[in-house]
Amino acid sequence: MMAVPLVQVDHIRKRFGSIEALVDVAFSVEEGEVFGLLGPNGAGKTTTVRVLTGVLSPDAGRVTINGEEISPRTPRIRRNVGVVPQQITVYEELTAHDNLRFWGRLYGMGGATLDLRIDELLAMVGLETRAKDRVATYSGGMKRRLNLCMGLIHRPKVLVLDEPTLGIDPQARILLLDRVRGIAAEGTAVLYTTHYLEEAEAICSRIAIIDHGRVLAQGTLEELLRVVRHGAVIRLQGTFAEADGARLDALSGLRLVSRDTRTAVLEQDGDRGVPELLHSVLNTVPDVSSVMVERPTLQSVFIQLTGRELRE
Ligand SMILES: Nc1ncnc2c1ncn2[C@@H]1O[C@H](COP(=O)(O)OP(=O)(O)OP(=O)(O)O)[C@@H](O)[C@H]1O
Ligand SMILES: [Mg+2]
Repeated sequence: MMAVPLVQVDHIRKRFGSIEALVDVAFSVEEGEVFGLLGPNGAGKTTTVRVLTGVLSPDAGRVTINGEEISPRTPRIRRNVGVVPQQITVYEELTAHDNLRFWGRLYGMGGATLDLRIDELLAMVGLETRAKDRVATYSGGMKRRLNLCMGLIHRPKVLVLDEPTLGIDPQARILLLDRVRGIAAEGTAVLYTTHYLEEAEAICSRIAIIDHGRVLAQGTLEELLRVVRHGAVIRLQGTFAEADGARLDALSGLRLVSRDTRTAVLEQDGDRGVPELLHSVLNTVPDVSSVMVERPTLQSVFIQLTGRELRE
C-alpha cells in the first residue's frame, strides 16, 4: 500500500470576483521533505497557502492533511499546520518572548513547557540575547526570524512558509534556509513558497512551478531539467577555421550552435556525457584555449514553461 502523503492538494480552484487566482493546483508534500512552490508575483502562491492552511475554502478541489480535509471549519486539523505568512505578523510593542508566549497560549500551551519551547526556538534563530527586547527595536531580518518561530511554536507536522526570506540579508538567509532544512530533517513536511530560483534549487527536494493559478510542471530538480530540450552548452575559445565548425557539428551527441574565428558554441544533443564530449571536441579541434560548460538551470526550465524570465 502506498503511504498517504501528509499534505495532499487535490486540484484546487479559487476565484475572487472576476480574478481566477487558482485554476488548477495539485501537489503533495511528504513528511521530511521541503516542497517548493515557485512562481512570479500574482501566480497564486499565497492563495494556495491560504487554502492549504484552512484560512480560505477552495471553490473546487480539496486539501487534506494526513487524510483529513482542512477548511476554515476544521480548527482541530488546522492545528497540525504552522504558518509563516508573507506579511510579518508580530506585535511590535511586545518582546519576542511575549509574542511567542501569546501565540503558544492560542494553541493551548503554557507553563514551563511553553517557556522551554520559546527558549529553544529563539536560540535556533540566534535571537536568545534579544528575547526580552521589544520587537519594535528589531531589524527586518530579526523580525523575519521571529516570524519563523511563531509558525513553529506548537510543533506542527506541516510547516508552510510564504516567501520567508523577503528583504533579509544573505547571512540571515543562509541561517534561515539552514534551519528550514533542519526542521524538515526532523520529519516535518515543509511547503516553501518563493520566487527565488536559487532558494528552490538549494533546499527543495521537489518543486512545482506555478503561474496564472496553474502548476505548469513539478518534480525533482533533475526531472524538471528534463523539460528543457537542450543539454549542457559548451563554449570554446581558440582559433577556429570554417572546416572546424563542420567537424564539430559532425561529432555524435553535439550540435554546433554558432562559430566564428575565436569562439564556437556547442550544445549537448543526446546521451553522451560532457566529459566524453569534451574529449572528442579537443581531439577534433586542437587549438582551444578555454572551455566553459553551462548546465541548464531552473531558470531555463522556467523560461521554457512560461516564456519569460523569473526576475527578482
Ligand atoms: N482577496 C483577494 N481578492 C481579490 N483578488 C485576490 C485576493 N487575493 C489574491 N487575489 C488575486 O489572486 C491572484 C494571485 O494572488 P496571490 O497573492 O496568490 O499571488 P502570489 O503568487 O502570492 O504573488 P506574490 O509573489 O506577489 O506574493 C492575483 O491576481 C491577486 O490579485
Ligand atoms: Mg504571495
